[in-house]
Amino acid sequence: MTWSCLAEAAQGVLCTADPRAKVAESQAIARAWQSGGLGAIGSAHPPVRPSRPARPRLRPAKAMPRRRKGIGRANRIALLHALAHIELNAIDLAWDLIARFTGQGFPQAFYDDWVRVAADEARHFALLSARLGDFGSAYGALPAHDGLWEAACRTAHDPLARLAVVPLVLEARGLDVTPGMIARMQRAGDARSAEILGVIYRDEIGHVAAGQRWFVELCARRGLAPQPTYQSLVRAHFPGALKAPFNSEARAAAGLMPSYYEALAR
Ligand SMILES: [Fe+2]
Ligand SMILES: [Fe+2]
Repeated sequence: MTWSCLAEAAQGVLCTADPRAKVAESQAIARAWQSGGLGAIGSAHPPVRPSRPARPRLRPAKAMPRRRKGIGRANRIALLHALAHIELNAIDLAWDLIARFTGQGFPQAFYDDWVRVAADEARHFALLSARLGDFGSAYGALPAHDGLWEAACRTAHDPLARLAVVPLVLEARGLDVTPGMIARMQRAGDARSAEILGVIYRDEIGHVAAGQRWFVELCARRGLAPQPTYQSLVRAHFPGALKAPFNSEARAAAGLMPSYYEALAR
């Protein structure tokens, strides 16, 4: 594969429907970018919605059956499938951030960070879909909900709003809930699934940290105070309150302090 610039390469991933191809392309682009073989950042016209496979069937979030908390095989498959769907969205969210917000004077380090995140998300999706395969299942075998891209649409106008809602609300929420999921897998004696979730958990602390770093940097450039700006952007672009309890330890490891998010909890 050859690309004329990073933004166009990112757009190419967004326009790829097949998850396996999305993963392979993400990893190839990351390698090319990291070895300096991709040239400039350039610019692109990312689609409003990324291309997706025919399966899973996407349902409105409210029409999804409630995920039960049991540790039986079917519940674990359902959990792994839901997480694979989140990671597939995360691949597209990282490339959308790159393709959409060019020409805004960000340094190369901004793009370096999100290329690394995109490659991580591709690896996370691949780990989860391989694990579904171990169970005789596959990504696409169950329905999935269609709410995840809404956050991207609501924040397509402004990188500061995107950073507030995607890494600093949605990915931070992942830090809150993943330790409980790891414990459930361990209780089920499913060491491999627990191990995969452990890898994802550690990487996601880095994603929230990158979000926080660039959020603060962008606020400084605009002469805004980060904490009240975060709160007003989340109130404006994220429906509902944030869900406690928070994993304040993991959030703090990513540089996200309680003074940012506690006021937004129900
Ligand atoms: Fe991930
Ligand atoms: Fe992530």
